[in-house]
Amino acid sequence: MTILKDLPLEERILRLKKERNAVILVHNYQLGEVQDVADFVGDSLELSQKAAKTEADVIVFCGVHFMAETAAILSPQMTVLLPDRHAGCPMANMITAEQLRRKKKELPDAAVVCYVNSTASVKAESDVCCTSSNALKVVNSIENDEILFVPDQYLGSYIAGQTDKKMHLWPGYCPTHARIHPTHILRLREEYPNAKVAVHPECRPEVIALADEVLSTSGIIRYAGREDVKELIVGTELGIIYRLKKENPGKKFITVTEQAVCPNMKLITLEKVLWSLEEMRMAVKVPEATRLKAKAAVDRMLTLV
Ligand code: 13P
Ligand code: SF4
Repeated sequence: MTILKDLPLEERILRLKKERNAVILVHNYQLGEVQDVADFVGDSLELSQKAAKTEADVIVFCGVHFMAETAAILSPQMTVLLPDRHAGCPMANMITAEQLRRKKKELPDAAVVCYVNSTASVKAESDVCCTSSNALKVVNSIENDEILFVPDQYLGSYIAGQTDKKMHLWPGYCPTHARIHPTHILRLREEYPNAKVAVHPECRPEVIALADEVLSTSGIIRYAGREDVKELIVGTELGIIYRLKKENPGKKFITVTEQAVCPNMKLITLEKVLWSLEEMRMAVKVPEATRLKAKAAVDRMLTLV
């Protein structure tokens, strides 16, 4: 007889996942070992679309808190588990609902667009949500001429450069992407003159200005698959390299800096995925009144994309 605890972790996770009727959703920045047990690996938009559609009873969300919270907003009948309760997103915590309410009073004509990297209570105070892959489309879909964009000033300024809307930007930012500097790109362009440069829109504007493409994490993965892209300088969190290499053997991927690591994303390990399925922890829940208001902002986005 096989003793369960003697089986490899992956095998135990897969067995328990079946027993619990669970799906494992994994963000592109997660550790390779976690990506390998996923039912689906993707960017924030794709993961929220999956969460809205899945018929499982349990979602194990391998990412950061706002991502699991978005799944709980969309699918309250499901148990959404985050395998490490400390896996938060510092940018999402750079604005509170109270701060947003105050700012809205100062800007009564502005519609509020919140980046999905925000808490449920900030989403609940917003008109519409967006992700890195649909922010421009969302902003342009709004009737108001004025937009209050929270919390990412860099994504906001990237969008502001492409729209006629008057954009007010909340001064939040991603500490991981802020570690990427123009000098990193300039140096690598010299070293790899034939390489393309793709960066995430959470990068500083000076970095974005040097890129060939500005894309969400899954956008970068799709771009890397193109025939004409043989070498790619990748301006985002390093976890993405695992999937890039796995899906594109033979191509060269160059990281901009070893500093571009999101410590929160790295808190999720295989052991914690197994533990979360065993103990059914930690369940992410959103109070119903907040959830309904936040869901309206997320649903508005999902009908646009
Ligand atoms: P994506 O939606 O592009 O995957 O980005 C999420 C994120 O947190 C980037 O830092
Ligand atoms: Fe948040 Fe930045 Fe980590 Fe993405 S990479 S989860 S924005 S801290």
